[in-house]
Amino acid sequence: MDPESKPDDRVDNALRPQKLSDLIGQNQVKENLGILIAAARQRGEALDHVLFYGPPGLGKTTLAHVVANEMGVNVKVTAGPAIERAGDLAAILTNLRAGDVLFIDEVHRLGRAVEEVLYPAMEDFALDIVIGKGPSARSIRLKLPHFTVVGATTRLALVTAPLRARFGAVYRLDYYDLEAMKAIVQRAAGMLKVEVEPGGVEEIGRRARGTPRVALRLLRRVRDYAQVRADGKITSRVAKEALDLLQVDPLGLDDIDRRVLKTIIQKYGGGPVGLNTIAASISEEQDTIMDVVEPYLLQLGFLDRTAQGRIATKSAYEHLKLEYHENGQQRLL
Ligand SMILES: Nc1ncnc2c1ncn2[C@@H]1O[C@H](COP(=O)(O)OP(=O)(O)OP(=O)(O)O)[C@@H](O)[C@H]1O
Ligand SMILES: [Mg+2]
Repeated sequence: MDPESKPDDRVDNALRPQKLSDLIGQNQVKENLGILIAAARQRGEALDHVLFYGPPGLGKTTLAHVVANEMGVNVKVTAGPAIERAGDLAAILTNLRAGDVLFIDEVHRLGRAVEEVLYPAMEDFALDIVIGKGPSARSIRLKLPHFTVVGATTRLALVTAPLRARFGAVYRLDYYDLEAMKAIVQRAAGMLKVEVEPGGVEEIGRRARGTPRVALRLLRRVRDYAQVRADGKITSRVAKEALDLLQVDPLGLDDIDRRVLKTIIQKYGGGPVGLNTIAASISEEQDTIMDVVEPYLLQLGFLDRTAQGRIATKSAYEHLKLEYHENGQQRLL
């Protein structure tokens, strides 16, 4: 394990489900993946290339490792921005063994030259190498073992069409429903040996925005609170107090979510307003807003994305207790 990793990361890794059957929720993905894996195993073949996409913290990396575990193969982990030159990828590819999983995180951030090496590697298990320069240059083709690329991205739209076409299976991860979130909190509490009442599980599960990573983080922070301000047991009341103090509201919105909505409403009359303008107004990265904030607000129906920009919906005004007017004018209730 990486000695540099933060304690929280280490806890997360320890809590990572290892097998398909340990995974909670995402039933459709689990079922389809189960069939894909069983069929490949029966035929004694390498698994087809698999792409997972969806908002951060829903289990893409976890699933990549689960796939390798279920196939009983090694996994080599890398990420789009980490493969700088085509030669870096060639080195990785020539070190893979038959059946191995090559997990490429942030697969939308691969460079163009690197992608071009990846296409024949994924499709024909071949590596084209150019030897020499100028008129005497010639290309030779190396055979690669049949391996499996597992790609992950938070931005499917940025994955180029030719790359996308080379994945035999593409799965979208969705926010988890409350039942699944409660099961995830319960499982993690058990593994961390934290005493938590059903009401506490529910409170944390409900405010974790359908995201396992957030649930694990909130559970740790509520555990701290329970230890310092109560007798260590996470009751419904303790969870509520701790989460209120962390400014996570009952729907799971945190400070940055609220600042985004309030900016649209109070500074720009409810919108439409461009993403770059919102990002500049609240001094946050556009990427954070697009990857983390917006998908959840869209899911709650608090935000609309139009060609003219982002618009706050009536439900958003209601949730923030701001008065809504059809003409966009608003004031504090
Ligand atoms: N289905 C699940 N059941 C239980 N725990 C889960 C599940 N999915 C994810 N987790 C937990 O949530 C944490 C975050 O998951 P993971 O790192 O796989 O997310 P990710 O989609 O790869 O996020 P990112 O886009 O930020 O890379 C992990 O530590 C894992 O333990
Ligand atoms: Mg990940």
